Amino acid sequence: MPDTGLRPDAPLPALAPAGEVVVIGLGYVGRPLALEAAAAGFAVTGFDLSPAAGAAADDAFRATGGPGTLRTTADPAGLPPATTWLVCVPTPLDAAGRPDLSAVRAAFATCRARMPRGALACLVSTCQPGATNGLCRAALEQEGWRVGRDVFLAVSPERENPGDARGGPRRIPRLLGAPDAASMARARAFWDRVTDAVVPVSSPEVAECAKLLENTYRLVNVALIDQLHAAFAALGVPTREVVSAAATKPFGFAPFWPGLGAGGHCIPVDPAYLQQEARAAGAPSRLLDLALAGNEARPGRVAAAVAEAFGGSLEGRRIVVAGVTYKPDVADLRGAAPVALLQGLVAAGAQALWCDPVLGEAPPMLDDIPRVADPADAQADALVLGTPHRAFDLAVLAGAAPLVFDPFGLIPPDAAGRVRAV
Ligand SMILES: NC(=O)c1ccc[n+]([C@@H]2O[C@H](COP(=O)([O-])OP(=O)(O)OC[C@H]3O[C@@H](n4cnc5c(N)ncnc54)[C@H](O)[C@@H]3O)[C@@H](O)[C@H]2O)c1
Repeated sequence: MPDTGLRPDAPLPALAPAGEVVVIGLGYVGRPLALEAAAAGFAVTGFDLSPAAGAAADDAFRATGGPGTLRTTADPAGLPPATTWLVCVPTPLDAAGRPDLSAVRAAFATCRARMPRGALACLVSTCQPGATNGLCRAALEQEGWRVGRDVFLAVSPERENPGDARGGPRRIPRLLGAPDAASMARARAFWDRVTDAVVPVSSPEVAECAKLLENTYRLVNVALIDQLHAAFAALGVPTREVVSAAATKPFGFAPFWPGLGAGGHCIPVDPAYLQQEARAAGAPSRLLDLALAGNEARPGRVAAAVAEAFGGSLEGRRIVVAGVTYKPDVADLRGAAPVALLQGLVAAGAQALWCDPVLGEAPPMLDDIPRVADPADAQADALVLGTPHRAFDLAVLAGAAPLVFDPFGLIPPDAAGRVRAV
């Protein structure tokens, strides 16, 4: 514990107008937040166990700059006694599909070991309801400290949308929950300087559940439109035109577009965090289970539709998947549905190939599946649109193989039936 020179009964230090901030975890969420805090004038230290993540944040700061400062470290001993600590570490599922909060636990232990009395720790990672008041509070309330008296605690789940060109975290309204009024006041004093709109809610659990509801809503609607896309295709009706038409209703409808299934580290993951707590409370959602299962099954259903077009067997067929990342124009393969599709094609005996203009070096998980630069050169029996990157010319893809399967409904079907919605 650092010696801050403060007696337990001494008055708390005020939040300095341009205080020090530590951001723990410099990935998709932590890096933009660190940059935004530096742009707001704070002296920011980014801490990440991965030196590469630190180096990427350093590069980004060199490019953007700011009235504040940003330095990074992979050594917890190098962390300053900052007044504000943001925890932005991963919250994945473990091998058994259960929430894995080990990184949050480790990050709060780091906070507690380095933060001075009077500092604020804010959970930004997505967690289950009760995490802030449970494991985060427990980590801080060691050796006699009390949240709201000696140290402050809040939760502000991130809503960032990687790949969205509209800018950083400042523009997205910021949910904020805290277990007590003093913590809320302290957290607002920070977030009001970093973001344009803070949305305070009555408890940490409301903020935690709101974030999980947002992504659960996405998952359920993605699973629904993916299933209906198959239904509309069977009816010979173009799904995207149906969705566009329905979206002209000025109330009660939000458009969702078909695809190969929601991937990434949030939409298929966060609902499992909610479901675990709902189940523990005796109120699991059956609809949520169906949506999770339907989303997971989506790449397999597309592979089955491709197989059906070849008389039920893919043995020896050359199938090229165009685009393999989990969303367009973002070089991230975590939970990517096209990767599951490729693996399914290989398991079914196909000679699977892939191309992706957004990914740099081929990642190890695709080592055994050949990459082609141009799908037109793949001499494939069929092409499946995996991720509709902006760099793709859909008209060119439509002509790149004798059969083209489009889970997104983006390529207009042709009279000869070569292009198929799946
Ligand atoms: N990526 C998104 O689009 C997004 C959007 C909203 C919310 N979230 C949530 O935000 C959180 C972070 O997600 P992300 O996408 O930024 O993850 P990420 O994997 O991109 O980055 C996390 C970083 O934390 C580092 N890290 C892990 N454990 C650490 C520790 N104990 N100490 C220091 N560094 C540590 C990792 O090395 C990594 O660089 C997750 O809860 C996620 O669900 C993500």
